[in-house]
Amino acid sequence: MAAPAPLDIAGETICKFPVRFAEELRARGPLFRDEAMGFWVVTRHELAKQLFMHEDFHMSPKFSGTYSSDVFAEKYPTCKKFRDDNPFTDDVRHPMIRKLLVKAFSPSALKRIEAQIAAAIDAITRPLLTQPGVVDVAQQIADLIPYAAISAIMGVDRLLQNRDEFLHHAKIMARMIDPTLSPQEREEMEHSAVFMLRELQSLVQKARQQPGEDLISDFLKAADDIGGLSDDDIMYSLMALITTGSTATAFTLTLVVHTFLTQHEQREWLRQHPEQIDQAVEELVRFAHGAKFAYRFALRDTTLAGQPVKRGDTVLISFAAISNDPAVFEQPERCDFTRNNKDALSFGHGIHYCVGAHVARTEVRFLLKAFLDYAPDARVLEDGIQWNLFNFLNREISCLPVATGH
Ligand code: HEM
Repeated sequence: MAAPAPLDIAGETICKFPVRFAEELRARGPLFRDEAMGFWVVTRHELAKQLFMHEDFHMSPKFSGTYSSDVFAEKYPTCKKFRDDNPFTDDVRHPMIRKLLVKAFSPSALKRIEAQIAAAIDAITRPLLTQPGVVDVAQQIADLIPYAAISAIMGVDRLLQNRDEFLHHAKIMARMIDPTLSPQEREEMEHSAVFMLRELQSLVQKARQQPGEDLISDFLKAADDIGGLSDDDIMYSLMALITTGSTATAFTLTLVVHTFLTQHEQREWLRQHPEQIDQAVEELVRFAHGAKFAYRFALRDTTLAGQPVKRGDTVLISFAAISNDPAVFEQPERCDFTRNNKDALSFGHGIHYCVGAHVARTEVRFLLKAFLDYAPDARVLEDGIQWNLFNFLNREISCLPVATGH
């Protein structure tokens, strides 16, 4: 029997037809090893849930068999600091940072955050969507929202003079874990890392001196209450929130708008049932998920789904497969705003469950509202859509032209 074709992680199917991609993966069993790429792939919702919690696996690339810290340290020492000193990847400080985040994201802080995100999204969308014309939703809207939101939430707008320069370098850093970066891009990133390290340290210091209504001030207060975390831990965590919560979110926002504007019945349903917007958000994040994979690295020789996995092996969890698993989602190929998504793994599961889920859902919600309020007849110009198939980590529409309908 011929060996199965190697997994095409930069092909058209994974980007444009995730349901078909999911079917192809499922046909190869709950877990299979792609010999050409040298990693395992999880294709079932239930197994993914187990893996997200499995103690023989870690999310940090430090435990990958191919990770070489020394080479990285020599050439890109500041990037290495951001990658390896980040408390999210450290077993001792990770539970402490999670505790801090629970405390800092208090109900009153979440209310304030929602208002800050609403204002940031309004400032971006209103001038574009209330005018006749064509807007590139990817570059002119989705790409800006996560950065504008995070800088408003964190207090960057209040505490730093050079917000735009800060966001420019933050954006470069957001590609830190992309394995397809060229040496030149890595050098550019090291330059950005030096800038970000200095600015983030200054940001934390300023927030200590002038605490205000923002997340950095809340983090510092929570850290003082909990104890055991340094200002550097806060600084690295801020960077983790910025990198994890920006570029990948932008890709999801673009896909969400594409789905929302092309699923005419669902759009009409939401217009009739605006009070159900949270349900629509959950379904859109499942249906239009921007990430291709989550990943785990085996800490020791072990077994998974009855198969022998070696220490250092990489296991990918396909979001297309787990979000379209018919064992959990009836007719997964249908975008259905009335679906109950309580079992969806769009934001992960267990100890690494997305800490930015509330921020992300709020961004999607206010973006949908902007389209409903400012451009109710907006229409995607399908012929002008461009995909970046070479994005290793995300399904990326790089250009999404939309006629505002005025
Ligand atoms: C639609 C947008 C988003 C999606 C679909 C998403 C999805 C996820 C998923 C699936 C995980 C778990 C990864 C794993 O276990 O391997 C995760 C973790 C994480 N997310 Fe998000 N996320 C989004 C937006 C955000 C935002 C806006 C932020 C920050 C404000 C953020 C910050 C984080 C962080 C820091 C983690 C790591 C948590 C930990 O290790 O304890 N995410 N996200």
